Amino acid sequence: MHLEAVDRLHGKYADMITHIEADALRTDLPSDYADLVISTFGLKTFDRDHQSVLAKQIARILKPGGSFALIEASDPKGWMLRPFYRFYLDRILPQIERFFLKGAKDFSMIGTYTRNYGDSTHMAEALREAGLSVTLKNHFFGCATSVAGYRPVKR
Ligand SMILES: C[S@@+](CC[C@H](N)C(=O)[O-])C[C@H]1O[C@@H](n2cnc3c(N)ncnc32)[C@H](O)[C@@H]1O
Repeated sequence: MHLEAVDRLHGKYADMITHIEADALRTDLPSDYADLVISTFGLKTFDRDHQSVLAKQIARILKPGGSFALIEASDPKGWMLRPFYRFYLDRILPQIERFFLKGAKDFSMIGTYTRNYGDSTHMAEALREAGLSVTLKNHFFGCATSVAGYRPVKR
């Protein structure tokens, strides 16, 4: 699936992209290897221990001065429209997907995942503990939260 996406999105440049299929929590990518680490919606199935492991992996793999940016769907606690949004995530979105995407079930657990994940506060703390400089942000009234920053260059 990823290879097809790379081919479709990057066309003639696709062969300049290396695709690695690996568990981010266990990957043995070399240390001080990456200029940039990104994740879009890949955190919500990780519990706190997993997030701490991932934070250490990111700190290890990034080059000094390298950057990271991670965003995840979140539970917008305190937002007055949260009950409607929860209903949308828990009930409506899985039905829309089932109806329009030929029975796909990618979003069937999105309600549970976002409720368990909460927001990116713990991920931010874990990244700081791993030695990274971190900015935590809310997006769309807390429906998504992001952590971004860099690995400081030690002098
Ligand atoms: C909701 S999808 C998001 C996919 C894509 N990033 C996007 O924005 O459309 C979550 C992705 O996280 C990946 N993922 C979950 N746990 C992982 C792990 N331990 N190591 C590597 N990838 C993982 C899943 O395989 C899945 O592709």
